[in-house]
Amino acid sequence: MMTEKIRVMIPEKELDSRIEEMGKRISEDFAGEAVHLVCILKGSAFFVCELAKRITVPVTLDFMQVSSYGAETRSSGVVRLSKDLDEPLNDKNVIIVEDIIDSGRTLSHLVKLLGQRKPRTMSICTLLDKPSRRVVDVEVKYTGFQIPDEFVVGYGLDFDQKYRNLPYIGVLEFDKQEEES
Ligand code: IMP
Ligand code: MG
Repeated sequence: MMTEKIRVMIPEKELDSRIEEMGKRISEDFAGEAVHLVCILKGSAFFVCELAKRITVPVTLDFMQVSSYGAETRSSGVVRLSKDLDEPLNDKNVIIVEDIIDSGRTLSHLVKLLGQRKPRTMSICTLLDKPSRRVVDVEVKYTGFQIPDEFVVGYGLDFDQKYRNLPYIGVLEFDKQEEES
């Protein structure tokens, strides 16, 4: 029987202090202005809340959900919008908030799509980055942690919709256990 085990990669305290720093940097970079955080559901929901609480300039929030098309069209970076934003982006300092950047396909498509909506500025903020997996180049302004190519869960990230609620980032490991007779 296979059992799933989680090995802690980034403990809650480290996430806290890094997100605190990120919020501070964003607040400095946009001093005297406001920021509009675009949260990419569902994975970024936990991160965006922690980040927003630590930003000291005025913050507005919006949410969108995307999903990749089937395997064939995936390489073209085409993603389907399953929930669009509620508000227009024109004249806003948009910060796209992601949980993790892997191939970069999702984000590069989003940048094109949202860029057409005439934001004043647009930047990308991600909690995690797996640079070794990148296929499409995307410019990321704020990165929490660069991590090796391992499948991680927690802090919003899921495996089969599970583990999003873990307060830390963990590596999912599969343990082979002897069948009990
Ligand atoms: P990309 O288009 O390949 O950059 O896809 C990024 C998306 O893949 C993220 O928003 C996650 O939903 C998912 N993803 C990539 N790596 C992981 C992981 O290690 N754990 C959980 N989800 C992941
Ligand atoms: Mg995601």
